Amino acid sequence: MVKRLTIAMDGPAGSGKSTVARSIAKALDYVYLNSGSMYRAMTLFSIQEGINPTDEIRLIALAKRCQIEFSNNGQTTFLNGTDVSKQIRTPAIEEKIVAIARIPALRQEMVCQQRRIASEGGVVAEGRDTTTVVLPEADLKFYVTASVEERAKRRFQELQSKGIDCSEQQIAREIQERDTADQSREHSPLQMAEDAIVVDTTNLTIDEVIAFILTQIEQWSLC
Ligand code: DC
Repeated sequence: MVKRLTIAMDGPAGSGKSTVARSIAKALDYVYLNSGSMYRAMTLFSIQEGINPTDEIRLIALAKRCQIEFSNNGQTTFLNGTDVSKQIRTPAIEEKIVAIARIPALRQEMVCQQRRIASEGGVVAEGRDTTTVVLPEADLKFYVTASVEERAKRRFQELQSKGIDCSEQQIAREIQERDTADQSREHSPLQMAEDAIVVDTTNLTIDEVIAFILTQIEQWSLC
């Protein structure tokens, strides 16, 4: 029987890793695990329950009641049985998520759920700490990145195509702020795992990135 691998991918916001991870999971018929969506759902839950981001004791208790599931190749997110896919992608979530995602005991609850989803292999997990904390024993690890300018350009074009007025410079500043918050967090910061394959997508199309990663997986499977 062909071994169903555990593949982990980390990288900064806007690097394209979600699109890439989802496509790789689809190509291999694996489960796609978007750990960022879990922190987003947890943030939504805290807002629904009216809990302040500084109230760690109540947030940790809430995390234990936060059951997150995915369907539709990871594109639909359920929080305690309700589809919250649209709600977790709003500015209200972005505003509070950094404060929520830095609480160690809350992260521990999320990590337990992530490991449970990944426990049988055949999974592509992505986020900020999947290669270093969640699945350090993953068969293959990738660090997907791109320059700040390129990530800002992509986000600018995406927002423009949706008719949303914005400034590329402002987006670049926000991306830099998110990088700093993700990389300087005390617990589980975004880091490059020593054995991760680095994929710089700055000058590559999504299809080129997917082809490169699939080749790496194929080569690994032949060893
Ligand atoms: O990947 P994303 O942009 O949807 O992530 C949303 C937020 O969650 C982002 O601020 C970083 C945080 N996050 C995290 O702390 N750990 C993860 N494994 C994934 C995301």
